[in-house]
Amino acid sequence: MSDPEPIRRKGLDNVIVADTELSHIDGEKPELLYRGVDAQELADRSSYEETAYLLWNGEFPTRDELDGFRAELDERRSLSHGVAEIVEHAPPDAVPMDVLRSAVSATSVYGDAGETTRERALSVLAKGPTALAAFGRTRNGDDTVEPRGDRDSAANFHNMHNGQDPDYRHAEILDTALLLHADHGLNASTFTGRVIASTESDVVSAVTGAIGALKGPLHGGANQDVMEMLLDMEESDKDVSSYLAEMLEDGERVPGFGHRVYKEFDPRAEVFKEIAQEVSENTEGPDWYSMLEEIEQFLREEKRIHEKGISPNVDLYSGTVYYSLGVPIDFFVPMFAVGRSVGWTAQVMEQYDDNRLVRPRAEYVGERGVGYVPMDERE
Ligand code: CMC
Repeated sequence: MSDPEPIRRKGLDNVIVADTELSHIDGEKPELLYRGVDAQELADRSSYEETAYLLWNGEFPTRDELDGFRAELDERRSLSHGVAEIVEHAPPDAVPMDVLRSAVSATSVYGDAGETTRERALSVLAKGPTALAAFGRTRNGDDTVEPRGDRDSAANFHNMHNGQDPDYRHAEILDTALLLHADHGLNASTFTGRVIASTESDVVSAVTGAIGALKGPLHGGANQDVMEMLLDMEESDKDVSSYLAEMLEDGERVPGFGHRVYKEFDPRAEVFKEIAQEVSENTEGPDWYSMLEEIEQFLREEKRIHEKGISPNVDLYSGTVYYSLGVPIDFFVPMFAVGRSVGWTAQVMEQYDDNRLVRPRAEYVGERGVGYVPMDERE
């Protein structure tokens, strides 16, 4: 039997390659569901760890189940000597996403990861924030702070990074930020993870590859780019509209806008927008929230943008939230990775449950029949 005609779709736009029960993005409505539950409702009522349990297990945990899940994370938060050495001896100017990727990868070298897929996935969730916080401290010449058993992932990260507990609301906001990044369909990094899993490779390798994919500015890097754009705007003597007009004139993309699936708005951006407003009202310094609103307004009225269905995405307002909470700018993308680790691990487990090797094809458009050219005949 001959193979069916190949489907050609650059970038795999709108091609379905897997079934998932984990998250659903409806770009028209628009809405984001985790296991059927509206992510906006979860952001309002649930926590990152409870949502992680929901995504992994397909049902809300009872109190005992949630306590058990948290205890499993707590047991694994500390880094082995080998992983700690990698993080703590990384040069201070190393890119935090590279450090996080190396630390996650090394968990399976130094025995941090465990034997089963579930144990390894728990390790990834538990140790990511510890590794990131440790690098944040050692690059500034500070001693690392050990994780605490009585703090959840968000508060633990804050505590390990800043050496003190966050105030209650800040911990809650950080927790919501992680929750809002927990899963998002078959985006580039999740797809990368599933491709790796489809070869029957392990979950640590899959997450390591996914972190690499998230690092790119078209995917995870945009929250950092938004903050850098705001700081640059603030420093320049240009007003928001002339700054943006120049960017568009130069053919640049405005970070924090546009999405392959959402064409109306990104529901995660709505939640972050509310939080950004709250944080801005309670923080001294430049009014980032008003600047972002001005940017939004300008682009809404800009025909070239509006006609293409480009609206704010999750990264537009998340950056200023992190910034106001004292998260360093180059940690914004790693924070996205920490949150998304829930989805990556859940999607890898789902891939294992009904696996088929992912193997698309490429059309060869190069030359044919080119013979070997001996070295002394080459110019
Ligand atoms: N600013 C200006 N123009 C844009 C933007 C933008 N942010 N996004 C898309 N366009 C234009 C693009 O230049 C193209 O124009 P034309 O048709 O004239 O060539 C048109 O819109 C369609 O763009 P596309 O690249 O085909 O659209 P896409 O679906 O591949 O783009 C995207 C999705 C996120 C890569 C893109 O919108 C972008 O580069 N945004 C800026 C980076 C960003 O904010 N990334 C975070 C994504 S959300 C986080 C996540 O979930 O991963």
